[in-house]
Amino acid sequence: MENKGSLLSSRGARIAGYEGILGKGFDMYVKDPYEQDTNPQGILNLGTSENKLCYDIIHGRLTRPGMNSLAPHLLQYSNVQGLESFREEIAKFLTEYARAQNPLDPEHVVVMNGCCSVLASLTAVLCDSEDGYLIPTPYYGSVYPDSWLYGKVRPVHVQLDSKMSDGESRPFMLTVKKLEDAMTEASKQGIRVRALILINPHNPLGDIYPAHLLKECLDFAHRYGLHVIIDEIYMLSVYDGTFASVHSLDRLPDPERTHIIWGFSKDFAMCGIRVGTVYTQSQEVRKALNQLACFHGCAGPVQQVLSHLIWDQEWINNTFLPANRRRLLKSRSILVNGLQKLNIPVLKSSAGLFVWADFRKFLKTQTFEAEMDLWWKLIHEKVYISPGQAFYCSEPGWFRLVFSDTVNKIQLGIERLQQALGMLAACDGEDIPTLVSGEDSMPEPENIDSDSDTSDELKDLADTTQLKKIAVY
Ligand SMILES: Cc1ncc(COP(=O)(O)O)c(C=O)c1O
Repeated sequence: MENKGSLLSSRGARIAGYEGILGKGFDMYVKDPYEQDTNPQGILNLGTSENKLCYDIIHGRLTRPGMNSLAPHLLQYSNVQGLESFREEIAKFLTEYARAQNPLDPEHVVVMNGCCSVLASLTAVLCDSEDGYLIPTPYYGSVYPDSWLYGKVRPVHVQLDSKMSDGESRPFMLTVKKLEDAMTEASKQGIRVRALILINPHNPLGDIYPAHLLKECLDFAHRYGLHVIIDEIYMLSVYDGTFASVHSLDRLPDPERTHIIWGFSKDFAMCGIRVGTVYTQSQEVRKALNQLACFHGCAGPVQQVLSHLIWDQEWINNTFLPANRRRLLKSRSILVNGLQKLNIPVLKSSAGLFVWADFRKFLKTQTFEAEMDLWWKLIHEKVYISPGQAFYCSEPGWFRLVFSDTVNKIQLGIERLQQALGMLAACDGEDIPTLVSGEDSMPEPENIDSDSDTSDELKDLADTTQLKKIAVY
């Protein structure tokens, strides 16, 4: 008899039916993107976490002679775990830049086509369908589809919010007590929790976990026999503060259950190159990952080019990293200053490509529906930023804004926000946000674009942000 039902299995239907938390509107900006010359009325994307500040430097390095030699073996099938030569360079690189206690072992590195593939594969091999993993909210929202589409594994949210309880030094602060509470709640609901996922430096908060908290989290996971997946994809995108990688800790309570992710998308400003890695000491986990790695492999020539790139620590230390940090810090300051002039508070950030900003006063009601309304109004005014619910934030009204773009675009973004919020205020009969001029006015683009600033100037930029108490709640 003819089957008139779906062509898909129930798994296929689940995958096809996944729309993302924001549904169909999510990729509006893709259909009508702002282009200065060809589509100036298009939607300005300050929502996608891409670093557009360093193309000149990366391009210069990637096009040096010798980078693209194509050895015959690169056209053959290769080790699914990643080329040995590439894994050796990754191990050396992570030993150096993550300040590992001991030299890392190339055999413990698995290479895939991006950290999303790593997250999807890891959750699929560590958890069974319907198992859960603890993850503090807000968090990088793609962790959900990464773990759900393949493995049908689900998040158990550790809900953080902006209210600060006794002993807490910042909003959205993670504590082991909150992990314990979420664990208890999961067991009441009959969810078997298999892992803890942490993102450090954090997306979307832009902050860094202190080493003592990391250790406490690892001890907590060990007490419950949980795997820890720690995503350090923003490890080198730190512009204000000190980052401690899990690699740098003197002791791991459960090395076989600790899996550390890093990739090229953010720290080397190349999300199009699609390369991510995981470092895991467990041979069993690597064996399982390698079975999936053959579906998530990364082209040999790409691995070769990246080997040359990370081998060159002289270039990384003296050219790329200083310029990248300087540009991130400048762009962050421009965006934060602009937001402050619209009276939009911003959480203090130390790393990443974005800030986490408080738009609660612009919501008609403190609900996620009102957050979506505001988001659509901003899209209507041609500026796309990411609403908190894309990160499973428990409190409506927070948005993530990406600053790693040209000065012109950031300034245009501020103008469009002002326009949109002004229209809202006008409708509500409230004060219209205005950009304050005078001493506080935004730096001129040409000053900001220059790479010639001294560390004193940089410090001034950072201090300005501090002094204005933008981040103080
Ligand atoms: C925390 C985090 N992990 C992973 C990814 C995805 O990385 P990739 O481009 O390597 O797949 C992102 C991208 O935004 C991210 O923010």
